[in-house]
This record gives sequence, structure tokens and C-alpha cells, in this order.
Amino acid sequence: MKKNKPDGAELSRLPRHVAVIMDGNGRWAKKRLMPRSFGHRQGMNRMIGLLEHAYDVGIPYVTVYALSTENLQRPKEELEGLFDLIRRHFAEYMKRICERGVRLRVLGDPSLLPADVGEIVARAERDSAQYTGKGLNVALAYGSRAELVRAANIAVARGQMLTEESLSDLLYTGGQPDPDLVIRTGKEKRVSNFLLYQAAYAEYYFSDKMFPEFSDEDFDEAIAEYGRRRRRFGKTDEQISD
Ligand code: IPE
Ligand code: IPE
Ligand code: MG
Repeated sequence: MKKNKPDGAELSRLPRHVAVIMDGNGRWAKKRLMPRSFGHRQGMNRMIGLLEHAYDVGIPYVTVYALSTENLQRPKEELEGLFDLIRRHFAEYMKRICERGVRLRVLGDPSLLPADVGEIVARAERDSAQYTGKGLNVALAYGSRAELVRAANIAVARGQMLTEESLSDLLYTGGQPDPDLVIRTGKEKRVSNFLLYQAAYAEYYFSDKMFPEFSDEDFDEAIAEYGRRRRRFGKTDEQISD
């Protein structure tokens, strides 16, 4: 039987914020002799299923990396296919997720998106503004370096000296808990400009599975593995036990 509800011990070890680098859509499709766009469609479906599962399990904050600033250099047809997916499905899918009491935040630079796509995501964000307690971040036209430069420039314009806390507040994720666990699918072991500041002390979990085939059970395995890790935050084992 599928086990959805974690027991007490597992609950205390549950990450508060899980971020997912959803990589491998293109290779997944290629292996099936299908166009990359088919992989992105399947990836989007899987993303929704995985998000529902994550909130069911009791993770309050989830971030998904959907499109990086670097991805904007991809061929025009692939990008148009991705934007069309957003045009057709984003509003409906986000409604489905946010009705669970989840507030949507889009991380990234909307000016890099086609205007109508920017409006669709902004509207979905506004429509979820009533919700508190749970959060979904969709990183779209997102780059961590650009996010840090933007934050630094805001501080400069205000004549403000930065602290670790005030810099954190100026990021797109301001006010949210830092990710405890970053999952990357698709076999690559790299960070690809994702949450460089926020994930300074995150645990990383790499899966060889391509994102469209990364199942709820695979997610549970990542959560279980997180529960077995010992986070020391620079201290010794003995200090942690005290
Ligand atoms: C991740 O899958 C989704 C996006 C970057 C939009 P890829 O499109 O990078 O898939 P692969 O890595 O080529 O298989
Ligand atoms: C990272 O995947 C970005 C997203 C999943 C949206 P990429 O496929 O773009 O990563 P690199 O370029 O191979 O590092
Ligand atoms: Mg990739």
C-alpha cells in the first residue's frame, strides 16, 4: 500500500522546504524517439503530481526550477513550446495546487518572458495571495547570480549596508525558510545557477532518473535519505547531540 502519512519520528525530520531541479525532460523524450516538447509536456504533468504528493506528505514549501536564465538561449521553437505550455495549462494547474492553501511565488525576471506569459504567471500569483502557511515557488527565467545582483542593487539604491539577513530578505524568496533539501533529477551533478545563497546549507540529493519518470516513491526515497543525514552546520557530532 502507498504510504502517504509519515509517522511522528519521520515528521520531525521532514524538510520544511524542498527545491527540485527538474532536469532530463529532453533526454527522456529523445530516448522514446519523441520531440523535446513531448518531454516538457510530460515533465509538467509530473511536476503537478509531485507537488500534490509533496504537500500531502506535509512539506510546507516547495520550489521547482522550471526555466533558467541560461535556458533562454535555447532554440526559439523549444522556448515557444515551453511558453505555449504555460499559456495553455499554467493557470488551471496552479489553481489546482493553490486551492490546497498554497501561496504561489514566481522567482525570476518576468521582463525576460513574453508579455502575455508574464501576465499569466503574475495573475496566478495574485490569485493565491490569500493563502498563508504553505508556499510554492516556480523559478521561471530564474538565475541565482542575477537574483543576487538585483538584491545588491536594491541595497545600493537605498544606501543600505547588507547583512546576511537583509540580503536574504531582498531575494525573491525573502521571508521564506531556506531549502533544507535540493533534489536534482536527470543524472547531472551540478547546481546550474539555482538558489546559490539560499541553499548554502541544504542537503543535496541526485537522482539518475529523468524528471518525467521521477515518481512519488522516488521523492519519498529522497525524503527518507534526508532523514538519515546528519546536518552539523559546521559543528561536531557531539555538539549536535547536546
Ligand atoms: C529540464 O529538462 C527542463 C528545462 C530545462 C526547461 P531539459 O530540457 O534540460 O532536459 P535534458 O537535460 O536536455 O534531458
Ligand atoms: C537546469 O537544467 C535548469 C532547469 C531544470 C530548469 P539545465 O538542463 O538547463 O542544466 P544544465 O545547463 O545542463 O546545467
Ligand atoms: Mg537539462
